[in-house]
Amino acid sequence: MATAQDIRPRKDELAPHAQYLSTSPSASFHSPSSHGSALQRIIPVANAKHLKPFATEDIKVLLLENVNQAGRDILSAQGYQVEFLKSSLPEDQLIEKIRDVHVIGIRSKTKLSERVLKEAKNLIVIGCFCIGTNQVDLQYAADHGIAVFNSPFSNSRSVAELVIGEIIALARQLGDRSIEMHNGIWNKVSNKCWEIRGKTLGIVGYGHIGAQLSVLAESMGMSVIFYDVVNLMALGSARQVDTLDALMAEADFITLHVPELPETKGMIGQKQFDQMKTGSYLINASRGSVVQIPALIDAMRSGKVAGAALDVYPNEPAGNGDYFNNDLNTWATDLRALKNLIITPHIGGSTEEAQSAIGVEVAQALTRYVNEGTTLGAVNLPEVNLRSLTMEEPNHARVVYIHKNIPGVLRTVNEIIGDHNVDKQMTDSRGDVAYLMADISDVNNQTIKDLYERLESLPSRIMTRILY
Ligand SMILES: NC(=O)c1ccc[n+]([C@@H]2O[C@H](COP(=O)([O-])OP(=O)(O)OC[C@H]3O[C@@H](n4cnc5c(N)ncnc54)[C@H](O)[C@@H]3O)[C@@H](O)[C@H]2O)c1
Repeated sequence: MATAQDIRPRKDELAPHAQYLSTSPSASFHSPSSHGSALQRIIPVANAKHLKPFATEDIKVLLLENVNQAGRDILSAQGYQVEFLKSSLPEDQLIEKIRDVHVIGIRSKTKLSERVLKEAKNLIVIGCFCIGTNQVDLQYAADHGIAVFNSPFSNSRSVAELVIGEIIALARQLGDRSIEMHNGIWNKVSNKCWEIRGKTLGIVGYGHIGAQLSVLAESMGMSVIFYDVVNLMALGSARQVDTLDALMAEADFITLHVPELPETKGMIGQKQFDQMKTGSYLINASRGSVVQIPALIDAMRSGKVAGAALDVYPNEPAGNGDYFNNDLNTWATDLRALKNLIITPHIGGSTEEAQSAIGVEVAQALTRYVNEGTTLGAVNLPEVNLRSLTMEEPNHARVVYIHKNIPGVLRTVNEIIGDHNVDKQMTDSRGDVAYLMADISDVNNQTIKDLYERLESLPSRIMTRILY
């Protein structure tokens, strides 16, 4: 199997801080450069050439926090040296380990701070086998040419299915009946228990999760309306409405699937509850800051809202335990006392299938980056891709030059690589960091070495890699 390796850059001058680093799923989802297209642009080529590095080291991978087996298998199959640990590491041990590795895979507990990354002299890429990337100093990583990948949408289906379950559970007051039975109480009622067939589901935020949910809800006989800040193609017979107000007034069940943004903070408060139909239901499995919980408590006490399901909260504990109390959120006791309220500990995306999908997606992104230099899906570098080199191109090499985004760099780089035939080239920038990828022909070991040394000597250099 291919054992692609990279060329190490010298680490000296740092690029000034990049201006734009977004981890918002919506930024990726709606960005013209990647809207639904990242995977479409990664088209496997049947006779794709497995690139290998100019240098001779093996690629060393450190996987922490019990990264899913599916992801481990993909990386091992590449012939990389994979070290796997079930837990995260204390910072000092992490620093010791990270010095050696080219690739690190983590989940949410491992903090890759500037202090840690400073020691990671060989690191070229970080895989976050999870949704969030807050645990990584993205800016420092970008400034040093270290790409960061995550898997923001692998659990969309899991969330959508949970919401479907909750719609039925709320309509039938399942939570209350179950608690009563656990307490030995037989309470057979049909009053205010409903079928969901023929009811209207209002989806706020028609992205990855909202759209999945739309299809599932219609298949169970619900009418679907949605509100989104972007005009989107409705799936099935769903209908986009122009305003949040219109959605609040029309829907029997309202479910929230927006990202956490300044505009979505507290977007459902007393005004929105007043607009809802009496006896309607609210579900929030998006982010805890979206709903004003005291207003929800009032709306449920008054009977305006007949039931609610919450999976996310303004403050959530860092670990499992008896933490869901007033110390965490001042209204916790009042909330917990409400009838027909389903409260779950942020489990919307927590399924075996989602973990496995995350493992595959992130491991594939790491492999593509190491072997081919492709940054599609990176959260801290510009997204750059070229179609694969093929077996029919034996004397070709791929130059990856990560550099400071300053005037004149491309001219200088093209003077260096321009002695060769540049078959294809792409460059893009994100804030102060730019990423250039070029496939050149008619190279041999000596010309690759010369190219590498000349690119490395440029003052704009952050990292140079040559794959051939
Ligand atoms: N409970 C869980 O375990 C869990 C798991 C995964 C995701 N989530 C959360 O679910 C939410 C949705 O995730 P997704 O993957 O569907 O995101 P997404 O980016 O695919 O879709 C979000 C949609 O919301 C829309 N939007 C943005 N601002 C809006 C506004 N002010 N009003 C109306 N629409 C707006 C966007 O245009 C986009 O279509 C996110 O907050 C995410 O963090 C929760």
